[in-house]
Amino acid sequence: MVDNDIATNRMRGNKSYARRIGRSLTTYQRQLADTVLSELDALYHLNNCKTFGKLALEIGFGNGSNLLKLAQTHKDVTFIGCEPFINGVAKLLKQIVEEGIKNIRIHADDIKILLAKIKRKKIFEDIYILFPDPWPKKRHDKRRLITQEFIELLISFLKDNGQISVATDDKGYASWIKKELGKSESSVTVEYKLVENSTIACGESSIICGKFFMTKYAKRGISNGQDIHVFFIRKLRCSD
Ligand SMILES: C[S@@+](CC[C@H](N)C(=O)[O-])C[C@H]1O[C@@H](n2cnc3c(N)ncnc32)[C@H](O)[C@@H]1O
Repeated sequence: MVDNDIATNRMRGNKSYARRIGRSLTTYQRQLADTVLSELDALYHLNNCKTFGKLALEIGFGNGSNLLKLAQTHKDVTFIGCEPFINGVAKLLKQIVEEGIKNIRIHADDIKILLAKIKRKKIFEDIYILFPDPWPKKRHDKRRLITQEFIELLISFLKDNGQISVATDDKGYASWIKKELGKSESSVTVEYKLVENSTIACGESSIICGKFFMTKYAKRGISNGQDIHVFFIRKLRCSD
């Protein structure tokens, strides 16, 4: 049974800075977490070849708004969503059930735990990291998810020509990401796009850079007057 502390307990000994639980889950959300979540377990489906079509991964999907829309618009792709914040997971589960979504699998925990247990490399066509926590204080630098090492790890799970899409509304984090990408030793191309605040439509179904949908944190940044910095990291053919 999923209870309010389960995520914290599972993470003992692993350094994750993601928040696990906010408000208590409603009875219905708990029921979904206890039943549907195990049916959609990403690791089981990945390691037992139970997915179909191409594979894409979203890391830190928050309330799942982008993941849901991607899944609805690309029904031939299996989307793996990774999010340790159980309230966000519960929101997504409700929509998956209500809208009969068939192509989402979920890892309700830290991405590094999932990657350590997947048996195959070079499996994803697309990886999305949208508005990761910026940890703006200098002393929290090491909490940042995006580092050279993490990008190299993700690249090992990308197919040749596969792409990682990263977006942030935090200028300082964008500079950090540029620097970390500059250290990469993998064969990749990096495309950077600055999406100016005044040019962004903020509707629920707005698509940013033709690649991903509006998210809760994108909206928050835009309403605070921030631009959006987007990085597309493409793995070159035949690199490891
Ligand atoms: C600022 S929120 C952005 C959420 C969503 N992508 C959006 O744009 O609205 C960052 C999300 O990343 C998740 N996160 C942080 N560290 C993570 C990790 N190591 N693995 C997976 N998700 C993580 C957090 O729980 C949080 O939901």
